[in-house]
Amino acid sequence: MNIIVFPEAQTATDFVAEKLVNTILKKPDAVLGLATGGTMPPVYAALLRAARNRQVSLSDLRSFNLDEYVGLAPDHPQSYHHFMRKHLFDHIDAKTNNLFVPRGDHPEPAQEASRYEGAIIEAGGIDVQLLGLGANGHIGFNEPSASFSSRTRVETLTDDTRLANARFFKADESVPSQAITVGIATILDARSILLLATGEAKARAVQAMIEGPIEENCPASALRNHPSVTVALDVGAASRLSSKTGCPVS
Ligand code: GLP
Repeated sequence: MNIIVFPEAQTATDFVAEKLVNTILKKPDAVLGLATGGTMPPVYAALLRAARNRQVSLSDLRSFNLDEYVGLAPDHPQSYHHFMRKHLFDHIDAKTNNLFVPRGDHPEPAQEASRYEGAIIEAGGIDVQLLGLGANGHIGFNEPSASFSSRTRVETLTDDTRLANARFFKADESVPSQAITVGIATILDARSILLLATGEAKARAVQAMIEGPIEENCPASALRNHPSVTVALDVGAASRLSSKTGCPVS
């Protein structure tokens, strides 16, 4: 695990965006695993800037998002389909049928989850998986106690996660209780992984991921079993690490 601590959230974000740009420059039809959450819009904004400056073309890009709320249709404002269109997909010329997000409104979510897992395999797997980090250590929507051998499936969200994500919903809307998420084993199949965590609210989860035991109680700790993981942190997210002087530290 290559851990890099940046002085500011913005520099950590720019680093992550640059890594994505370099991946696409090397392989224009790269398959990216994409993430949502409040940490990600600046990454997508940086990617769009690079595309606008003609530094990179996103035309042949292929992508698979990590997750989607069960019960939300793609046009629901809090759906991850909507999030991705707003922050990235509506602004690029990639083919929409190359940009995958699980269908949360599928009548049989479990069936949709296995179809999605199959589509990732059919695309040749993920080249670079972008990840955020839940304050409880979740990756995608793989909540604490999710099996490290899990594949794309329906996951029940914890109260902590629903509370953390309530900020994106209107006061009279309830956060869905389930999501379709790519599994931990599916994430670990990616050829490389790029995790971005910023802000002190992530410091405990970052500490558990890097310095705690590798156990299912902390889904992100599974990443230590992967040979090519880069973790970009700002000083807030790194504030509980015992070794935080080096850049990079590992
Ligand atoms: C959400 C997403 C995760 C994301 C995490 C952190 O629930 N399902 O993929 O990494 O929570 O989100 P944020 O960036 O808003 O802290």
